[in-house]
This record gives sequence, structure tokens and C-alpha cells, in this order.
Amino acid sequence: MRRKFIAGNWKMHMGPKSASLYIKQFVKELNNRKTLEDALNAGTIAAALFVPSISLTSAQAAKGNCKFIVGAENVHSEKKGAFTGEISVPMLLEADTFYVIIGHSERRRIFMESDDLINKKILNATGNGLTVIFCIGETLSERESGMTYDVLKNQLRNGLASVGKGSIDAGKIIIAYEPVWAIGTGVSASTADAEKACKYIRAEFAKMFTPSAADNELILYGGSVKPENSREILNCDNIDGVLAGGASLEVDSFVKILEAAL
Ligand code: PGA
Repeated sequence: MRRKFIAGNWKMHMGPKSASLYIKQFVKELNNRKTLEDALNAGTIAAALFVPSISLTSAQAAKGNCKFIVGAENVHSEKKGAFTGEISVPMLLEADTFYVIIGHSERRRIFMESDDLINKKILNATGNGLTVIFCIGETLSERESGMTYDVLKNQLRNGLASVGKGSIDAGKIIIAYEPVWAIGTGVSASTADAEKACKYIRAEFAKMFTPSAADNELILYGGSVKPENSREILNCDNIDGVLAGGASLEVDSFVKILEAAL
């Protein structure tokens, strides 16, 4: 059963104190909105905030029993070892964190993460108890040269290589279609283009796994999502939710995006 999944990605914003203040305010706003709170409790809508690793424990503490997800923005591909500065899956689990973003275009472009590394991270994360938000998307030059669908197909197939084998479950992966040119630019993809890409991703997913896995697969859109455009995006047949960056940094706008999913 698909549900609406509304996620925020804080990126490199909000240390432990600011995270705690935000989350407390967020909980208060949810408590004041019965319909939204009921939808979260019933699981028809899921809300998730992906926060910097240093803020995970304070965010989890501030959340209390409120029903939304606090997730991580990154995880290493190995379970443990001499990797100064890195965070492992067991460390996230110890911080009661069960969701992580992998393959974000900023990690691909700025930190040179390859499809191969992303695949290793996905296999390690999903094989050890995490659910992954797996981001894919084309750059502007790829779009302009008509390569959008080839890029999506390659990123999907390479990133999800070996998924479905052993303990690796496709059901533990949520896909986020994030055209790189729409991230942080204020220019979101047109609803028609976003729907077309997500429909294509679902069809590819059906070929890679099964039609019923594809029917149940959650596919999100990300890239300049704001309160003003979220309702239209969320009304698309093949878009189950959104991944918002800038608009998730203010409680008010994140709550408005959540309300658009009602
Ligand atoms: P944006 O970021 O909403 O600020 O464009 C989205 C993302 O990077 O996930």
C-alpha cells in the first residue's frame, strides 16, 4: 500500500541546539493540527526530517513519541573500520535512526560519489536494517542533450545492482527523483515533466523487480519543492511524496507542505 511520504533534507544546517528547538516547535504545530496528526498516526502520511548526524540524538530526544521519522543524510559503505570522520550503519541504529538518504546529487557531484559507491552504501544500509531514500536525477546538460531517461535508467540499475538478492529488499528503498538543475535553484520541474520521469522510474522498477513491487514502490520528487507547488506535485499519479531542502528549514513551510498531502 502506497502512502504519502513528505521528507525534508536539512543539508549542512542546524546543529544539536537548533535541531532541538525546531523539532519541539514542529511537534507543537502537529499537536495543533488534529487532521494531520491523525493522518500521521494512521500512517496514511509519513513525515521525515533528514538531519545532520551531529543533531540526530538531540532531534530524536525532542521528537518524543510524536509519529514522524528523523533520518540521517549520509552513511558509510562499510560497517566499521578506520574511516576518520565517517558514520556507520550500526552507529545510526544506536541513535535510533532507521532511515538514510543515499545518492543525493550533492554527494555525487561535490564528494565524487560514484554509482558503484552508492550501490555499496545501499547494499550495506538495507542489508543491515535501514530504509534508504535513493536519489537519482539528471543534470541540465544531460537534460538538454536528451539523455534524461538514459541517466535515470543507469543510475537506477547501477545503484540497485544486487538488490533483491539475499537479505537486500527492494521494499526498503524509496526513490527520490531529483533533477539536479531544480535543486536549490527555485526552478522546480514542471508537474508534467516530474510525473513523466516518475512514471518512467516506476516502469523501470517493474522490469528490474516485479510489477507488484513497482506498484507498491514509493517515488518522491525533489527540487525546489515549496508550499505553493507541493499540492500540484502530490496530485500526480506516480509521485508519492516530496523531498524538500530549503523549504524544510522553516517549521511553518514544512508543515504547509505536509498539509498539502492531506
Ligand atoms: P531544494 O533541495 O528543495 O532546496 O531544492 C532539495 C534537495 O536537495 O533534496
